[in-house]
Amino acid sequence: MENRLISGTTKICGVIGDPIAHTMSPVMHNAVFKEMGMDYVYVAFQVKKEGLGEAIQGMRGLNIRGLNVTIPHKVAIIPLLDRLDHLAELIGAVNTVVNDNGVLTGYNTDAEGFLRALLERGIEPRGKNVVILGAGGASRAISFILAERGSSLVILNRTLDKAKECASRIGEVFQKEAKALEFDSENLAKALTEADILVNTTSVGMYPDTGETPVSADLLRPGLIAVDIVYNPIKTRLLEETEAAGARTISGIDMFVWQGALAFEKWTGLKAPVKLMKEAAIKVLEK
Ligand SMILES: NC(=O)c1ccc[n+]([C@@H]2O[C@H](COP(=O)([O-])OP(=O)(O)OC[C@H]3O[C@@H](n4cnc5c(N)ncnc54)[C@H](OP(=O)(O)O)[C@@H]3O)[C@@H](O)[C@H]2O)c1
Repeated sequence: MENRLISGTTKICGVIGDPIAHTMSPVMHNAVFKEMGMDYVYVAFQVKKEGLGEAIQGMRGLNIRGLNVTIPHKVAIIPLLDRLDHLAELIGAVNTVVNDNGVLTGYNTDAEGFLRALLERGIEPRGKNVVILGAGGASRAISFILAERGSSLVILNRTLDKAKECASRIGEVFQKEAKALEFDSENLAKALTEADILVNTTSVGMYPDTGETPVSADLLRPGLIAVDIVYNPIKTRLLEETEAAGARTISGIDMFVWQGALAFEKWTGLKAPVKLMKEAAIKVLEK
């Protein structure tokens, strides 16, 4: 943070979660604030489950302008906010909070960030068959935005009930059938034969277990687009094997940068320098 003066007027943004030490968000946002000469700073706060209420009161009391929210608070924070963006309300999870003079509004930029990552590469998911692996928090955000956009979804999860719950909520909200299947090799092979896009939202393949992959290489083929939302490593084994099969890939770093960019825009009212944010995030990951 050299050459940057924190003064009496500096606005504060940050991220709350537990654990939080591994977060790349401070480096990404502070790089942008510095480059754009903005009087903002971004910090990480370790907030335990039982401390969430006090943390949110503290956001009001200290006039913290914006927060990102990560595990384990994305759902629990909702009743503590004053307003919810429509998409965040549908998804039932918040990853960004904006503080307007004590009025706290919750958004879900994970969902929109995922969509932007596809669209910036000219991939339009409307009308496409999408296979989603996993049914956790990130899967829910992604499934909802894809259903809203008009994709047909098959959700596979190790715990079938969670996939069913997500699919049935999509059915209620969008009057659109989403299939829920147990995540086993037979179901996966069948689902992938008709898929245009495969999205891994499980943590399989994430550092330090980088030798793992959720999909065996023989199921990958040209024509398929594979998106892995795991961003550490930037290129997971799944993405390496997809590329080797002659198919297109999108790394989780793109969604990560876009969710941050959209949060930045909500806090500052400025257009986010997405390229700069991506360079800053990649620099940390490559260290
Ligand atoms: N790129 C981005 O911006 C971004 C944003 C958010 C999250 N992420 C990444 O996405 C991943 C998931 O995050 P989350 O918040 O959705 O976590 P979560 O709510 O804990 O969900 C984890 C999901 O992974 C599945 N899973 C875990 N281990 C598995 C295994 N060995 N085999 C099969 N399935 C397994 C879980 O299945 P069960 O339900 O059966 O347990 C669940 O569906 C993490 O790696 C996270 O870093 C990336």
